[in-house]
Amino acid sequence: MSNVVNGDAEVSGESYTNNLTHTVSASFSISSSPVATYTSPSPGKAGSLLARTATRTSVKQLKPFATEDIKILLLENINKTGRDVLTAQGYQVEYLKSSLPEDELIEKIRDVHVIGIRSKTKLTARVLREAKNLLVVGCFCIGTNQVDTQFAAQHGVAVFNSPFSNSRSVAELVIGEIIALARQLGDRSSELHKGTWNKVSSGCWEIRGKTLGIIGYGHIGSQLSVLAEAMGMTVIFFDAVNLMAMGTAKQVPTLEALLQGSDFVTCHVPELPETHKMISSQEFGQMRTGSYLINASRGSVIDIPALIDAMRAGKVAGAALDVYPSEPGGNGDYFNNELNSWAEDLRSLKNIILTPHIGGSTEEAQSAIGVEVSEALVRYVNEGATLGAVNMPEVNLRSLTMDEPNHVRMIYIHHNVPGVLRKVNEILGDHNVDKQMTDSRGDVAYLMADISDVSGSVIKELYQSLESLSSRIVTRVLY
Ligand SMILES: NC(=O)c1ccc[n+]([C@@H]2O[C@H](COP(=O)([O-])OP(=O)(O)OC[C@H]3O[C@@H](n4cnc5c(N)ncnc54)[C@H](O)[C@@H]3O)[C@@H](O)[C@H]2O)c1
Repeated sequence: MSNVVNGDAEVSGESYTNNLTHTVSASFSISSSPVATYTSPSPGKAGSLLARTATRTSVKQLKPFATEDIKILLLENINKTGRDVLTAQGYQVEYLKSSLPEDELIEKIRDVHVIGIRSKTKLTARVLREAKNLLVVGCFCIGTNQVDTQFAAQHGVAVFNSPFSNSRSVAELVIGEIIALARQLGDRSSELHKGTWNKVSSGCWEIRGKTLGIIGYGHIGSQLSVLAEAMGMTVIFFDAVNLMAMGTAKQVPTLEALLQGSDFVTCHVPELPETHKMISSQEFGQMRTGSYLINASRGSVIDIPALIDAMRAGKVAGAALDVYPSEPGGNGDYFNNELNSWAEDLRSLKNIILTPHIGGSTEEAQSAIGVEVSEALVRYVNEGATLGAVNMPEVNLRSLTMDEPNHVRMIYIHHNVPGVLRKVNEILGDHNVDKQMTDSRGDVAYLMADISDVSGSVIKELYQSLESLSSRIVTRVLY
């Protein structure tokens, strides 16, 4: 194997690679990363950084080693936008349309550094234990329940997802449902599908001038607020924290005030113990007679038998549900009493729109998820940034520049035990640590340090010293 010139420093590739192979493949070449195609995000900023920063040539693109050595397995028909981001980096990308049975998955995962999945692939402890080269998991979806994230963290494997790429899709669905409920569109359409002409105006309303009450004013709730005001609605919202209102929306101090003041109530809170059945009999009693309820958040938020009672009593004039306490694992005739004991009562109600958890299911959302998760994977592999990781502390350092050719970035994922930083800093302390950041999440801590003016042999020494500490989970070197 030849020596490779890295900026000003000449490094002996053979000896070096022997000591780095626990996270990388055997093939080795140190790259000086001469072409700056993107930069690290500044802390707190995720998203389309690759394209936005493409022209900033002063930034040095870090790499763990030759990018063609990075092996990526993408399962479950990951959107092309995501595949494109990864192949553009020069990584070896294998793409499969389906998920894999566990034994096949174990065979494949042994070899890869990155795996991209959606909701069907289960990355259990049994599977992850075999993934000796794995650096990072990308969940190209919202949820991460399919991954044993704690086991992954304990073994130095970061997990990323895309929680907010579909916020707009949900907000638009809710706008459609507000009008559909006010005009009883679901009932009129299904009557006519059965051949019945039923032209009525009684109980049908315009939404202009009506009040929309939003419970949970986060990514989706605030998008919805803007759309609803544009359609002539008055918006009030209730949230656990004080928030800046969009447009002329007003925050109300209690859930009761929201329920009493709204013609339409829509829920956009996370699933938490506090939000479990947060709309039940008492809350239906506080709603205006003839008002409407929409839930596209989580199924546990509404007490559905209480909703059925409120609709039968005429208290609630219509409802739209996209999420349920139990949801089937696949498509088919599963929405029945076996799944949820009240399913058939719910189905029999008038003016109720029932959708199969499609709030975020649009082409645009899939495409945005593809880009967001792939970019997070690239940032993690190339620069070590954990911004947005669901199982690691969020750590990032500002980018190195082309004027810093002999700098190295050390990443040390370790058990969060007393005295560990003293030992790490004893190792790094003799060198010029330009910048350093560390944070912990539970038992796992993540340290990044940029060190200037180091030769190949010093990098090797630093690497070996960190590797020999008993607190070590994973050590990585980027340059
Ligand atoms: N139907 C779908 O396909 C779909 C798609 C995406 C998201 N979702 C769900 O929508 C919900 C909202 O998502 P988001 O991205 O807007 O979340 P978010 O985290 O951006 O916002 C949630 C808001 O709820 C508030 N909140 C938390 N607990 C509360 C409480 N007890 N009372 C009042 N407010 C409270 C938070 O302060 C926050 O402002 C989540 O449950 C998410 O899982 C559903």
